[in-house]
Amino acid sequence: EQIEKSGYEHFMLKEIFEQPKSVHDTMRGRLLVEEGVIKMAGIWDHIEKFKNANRIIIIACGTSWHAGLIGEYLIEEYARIPVEVEYASEFRYRNPIITDKDVVIAISQSGETADTMAALKLAKERGAFIYGICNVVDSSIARITDAGSYTHAGPEIGVASTKAFTAQLTILSLIALKLGKHNGNLGNADFMSLIAELDAIPKKIEDVLSSTHELVQDIAKDFINATNFLYLGRGYNYPAALEGALKLKEISYIHAEGYPAAEMKHGPIALIDENMPIVIIAPKKGHYDKIVSNVQEIKARKGKVIAVVNSGDTQVSQMSDYVIEIPETSECFSPIVASVPLQLLAYYIAVYRGANVDQPRNLAKSVTVE
Ligand code: G6P
Repeated sequence: EQIEKSGYEHFMLKEIFEQPKSVHDTMRGRLLVEEGVIKMAGIWDHIEKFKNANRIIIIACGTSWHAGLIGEYLIEEYARIPVEVEYASEFRYRNPIITDKDVVIAISQSGETADTMAALKLAKERGAFIYGICNVVDSSIARITDAGSYTHAGPEIGVASTKAFTAQLTILSLIALKLGKHNGNLGNADFMSLIAELDAIPKKIEDVLSSTHELVQDIAKDFINATNFLYLGRGYNYPAALEGALKLKEISYIHAEGYPAAEMKHGPIALIDENMPIVIIAPKKGHYDKIVSNVQEIKARKGKVIAVVNSGDTQVSQMSDYVIEIPETSECFSPIVASVPLQLLAYYIAVYRGANVDQPRNLAKSVTVE
């Protein structure tokens, strides 16, 4: 096992550090920047299904569901196809309306999650075209779907998903851009600049890992006795906030809630005092000014702000107690980069609390029973 961990203390840390490679592997052979092409056989062989789809329904659980929410933003923005995202466990029991004009995409790292599998079977029975985004090759979900794309993140051992999540976001980005280009909603110039941005993501993850690793450890030390955390983000980074909170809950056992930043005023603001740490994702592109006012409201109530901002940021940084800088990228890819320091933060808080990071209590890597 020590050899498999390649010198890292835990699989989770190893997997966090593998992300420059896993994201690159997920794009390899698919994203051909010089040719200006995205090659994805699973999509291309069934392009008529996607072209004629009334809507796309994404079904998943846990971290994969968070990736699905970002997929909704991506596909609606670039391909202009309506998207709904559902928890598989809800979808399967609520007699959903599904037709043969629907494309159902299941996202699952393991490809074995019982609820996701059951929801897919239901969608298939009702005539939908079913597509899989799985990490484990030849898994049950990969086998029953009509087509799909593997994430190629490599084996993920840590129960808390990290590199599979960023690989899922990478695949969803490729799908959204490919469909948008194909159906004419995404012009060539925008397409070319977006694929160049996507191609640069592995390097940006690498930069974030080296520039924030020590800093995040210092921040984590200050929060080992916290009992609650709030994570806020807007737009593409709202699901990234949900995922950041889930990571912390899963491995440190600290209660954490993710929220869309603007919803703060409808509830969570009542919880803010000097004991409440608030992680806020505030890249320059993406409702920055609105986030500035959220931070002002938090500071007026003495909340402790840990801000994830772009390098060189001043406004949010000046007001925040802790600042984590990440490189700038297109808004749609920013959750991939912003998630990395949040994974590290959850990891170090859990490690300093003495928790079993790779195998947290009560959780399983793959939930094959209901
Ligand atoms: C479990 C795992 C999570 C995962 C979820 C969905 O809860 O602990 O990390 O996100 O199942 O798993 P899947 O394999 O379908 O992505």
